[in-house]
Amino acid sequence: MGIHYWEQENIFELRTERSSYVFGVNEQGILQHLYWGEPVEARECAPLLAIRTHSSFDNDLNSDQAEYGGRGGGNYAEPCLHVHFSDGVRDLKLRYAGCELVSENRISIRLSDDHYPLRVELGYTAIPEVDLIERDVRIFNGGDTPVRVIQAMAASWTLPPLRDYRLTHVTGRWAGEYQLRSQPLSEGRRVLESRRGFTGPHSNPWFAVDNGRADEETGKVWFGALAWSGNWKITAEKSNFGRLHVLGGINDFDGAFELGPGAVYSSPVFTGGYVSGGFGAMSRNLHLYQSRYILPGGRVRKVLYNSWEATGFAVNVQEQKKLARQAARLGVERFVVDDGWFGARNSDMAGLGDWTVNPEKFPLGLQELIDEVKGFGMDFGLWVEPESVNPDSDLYRQHPDWVYQFPNREGTLLRNQLMLNLGHPEVKAFVLEFMTELLDSYDISFIKWDMNRTVTEPGAFPLAEHAGDSVWIRHVEHLYEIWAELRQRFPQVEFETCAGGGARIDLGMLRYADQAWISDNTDALDRLLIQEGFCYAYSPSVMMCWVTESPHGMNGRSLPLAFRFHSAMMGGLGIGADIGKWSDAELSEAARFVAQYKKIRHVIAEGSLYRLASVREGGLAAGQYVSPDRQETVVFAFRQAQHFGYSEQRITLRGLDPDAVYSMEAAEGLTQTLWHGSTLMNLGLPLSLSGDYASRMIHLQRQPAR
Ligand code: GLA
Repeated sequence: MGIHYWEQENIFELRTERSSYVFGVNEQGILQHLYWGEPVEARECAPLLAIRTHSSFDNDLNSDQAEYGGRGGGNYAEPCLHVHFSDGVRDLKLRYAGCELVSENRISIRLSDDHYPLRVELGYTAIPEVDLIERDVRIFNGGDTPVRVIQAMAASWTLPPLRDYRLTHVTGRWAGEYQLRSQPLSEGRRVLESRRGFTGPHSNPWFAVDNGRADEETGKVWFGALAWSGNWKITAEKSNFGRLHVLGGINDFDGAFELGPGAVYSSPVFTGGYVSGGFGAMSRNLHLYQSRYILPGGRVRKVLYNSWEATGFAVNVQEQKKLARQAARLGVERFVVDDGWFGARNSDMAGLGDWTVNPEKFPLGLQELIDEVKGFGMDFGLWVEPESVNPDSDLYRQHPDWVYQFPNREGTLLRNQLMLNLGHPEVKAFVLEFMTELLDSYDISFIKWDMNRTVTEPGAFPLAEHAGDSVWIRHVEHLYEIWAELRQRFPQVEFETCAGGGARIDLGMLRYADQAWISDNTDALDRLLIQEGFCYAYSPSVMMCWVTESPHGMNGRSLPLAFRFHSAMMGGLGIGADIGKWSDAELSEAARFVAQYKKIRHVIAEGSLYRLASVREGGLAAGQYVSPDRQETVVFAFRQAQHFGYSEQRITLRGLDPDAVYSMEAAEGLTQTLWHGSTLMNLGLPLSLSGDYASRMIHLQRQPAR
């Protein structure tokens, strides 16, 4: 386990529990990728370092195996690094210049240009128990003239030669994020990216590649996720000699920047992994990695109530107090006031940027509501959107130069708001200051941080002063710094990342966020799709899901309360309905679900997720969570339509101890309550779901051994 270096052969290996990652230096001093997959004897990869050529059209076949290829010479592939030197040279020659074993699991490889004082440090950290490798890059300009960086990728992952490559990724749009897609990759490039200034709902910086035949349980899968919340790019390029490279980093779209004399650029981390147990194993490794190495706080989520879908912008203290009383009856633990509590915010037309409590809505201040909420035994949370401003706001009237802008161009209004240049030191200080004041002044335990528009006219004012900067990068760096600082100043506060739903969730943001709002679409059936796609890459412990009204306000679909609860209980449970209008019967049914959730939520938060049946296939959808000690498991099953004459299949469970006996509470239609793990995992559990939109949650606990 860990990192090995064979000096004589010039070969490096990162060895995890179930994988080898091997690279070496060839006789020309070029770093070559040699192997990634099941463990091998790394030294025996040495013959792959031999120099290969093909024709004058593909002279340098070794560039097809470059571990971190630069744009230069006969390398025409998507470059990891592409720079322009100040004398006009646009050609890079990177050669191995040494290594440093930083720790048992971390190594840094130095590359330098043949002529120019440009140095590159490739960082590798092995995470043995989850078979992952974190990679990042630092680029140093040791010269006395600036270097223009056109593209600087965090890493390139080289896959072994497979007959077929299939790419799996997510795509989407507002209210329809995390839709899974897969497609064969033939020769050429396939790009996943965001060009809009944030992670985006259209795509997410995560990929998986297999040979087209891996499934949930079996097959080799190579995958990666990039920790960046701004413009990002992941390019999968299959060469004409059969190799697939997957490069990822900050997007070069409008992204060139100047690296001044003595300056350093540090890339985000691109984490890659290999598993032989199919997509299920991939997701479980990523979830465990997030829990142990990425996420900042505890995993178990409080049950929250959020008033957005109930009241919209029409927030007022009396109405909120009524909702709080009802929420407390349901067993809710956290009451969150969404948009509309501040400034002149009665619609999305005005007030954004003015972060003072609206005196008409809260004549005695916010504390009155907070006291009421606390009196009911709940904690209090608040919505903010610090990166935007309505032109109709005091903030904009005072600081029109704080928004992104170009001279001679009118700023594009999206949701009636402009975007603040968070990269500007004064804007950063303003955001830190008002957030600190808010959290100092009130007893607030939770912040939902939203971001509701894309970046347009990305010019920092005054333009000439910032000519060489990348505003795209600076914005994200400052965002991270603000979140880090706020977490440090207010360790008791939990933070949620939201961007009009799930448009800013990635390994970068999750270093600071306790939880994530994954979509504004709260229809429980649509949600199953979104939640499934989300959990391919991200942990259910951060996935916030609300129970809302039926028929649903967006699509008019009616769903039973049980279906809505079960769907939402697969992550962090929230309630976003107009509970002031719910009948006593509905309230007590809901309270039962909340109580049930509290009994099982540790399994959702800390357990392993097995996708038993996909909602994408229609019919039955089911997911299972198994606690780390295999003492408990929770199964959720959903049937959209019950067709007459089709017998109900059993659902086979995963991850249990075959010899243990598991018991469940008796439920309607299910009389047997004791089951061996072996029976559950092979014969399967009958679900006896009847009717359309039927659903069930089954909680099985291991019987003490007799
Ligand atoms: C975004 C969020 C919603 C809600 C509204 C408020 O759309 O995703 O949950 O907070 O903003 O304006």
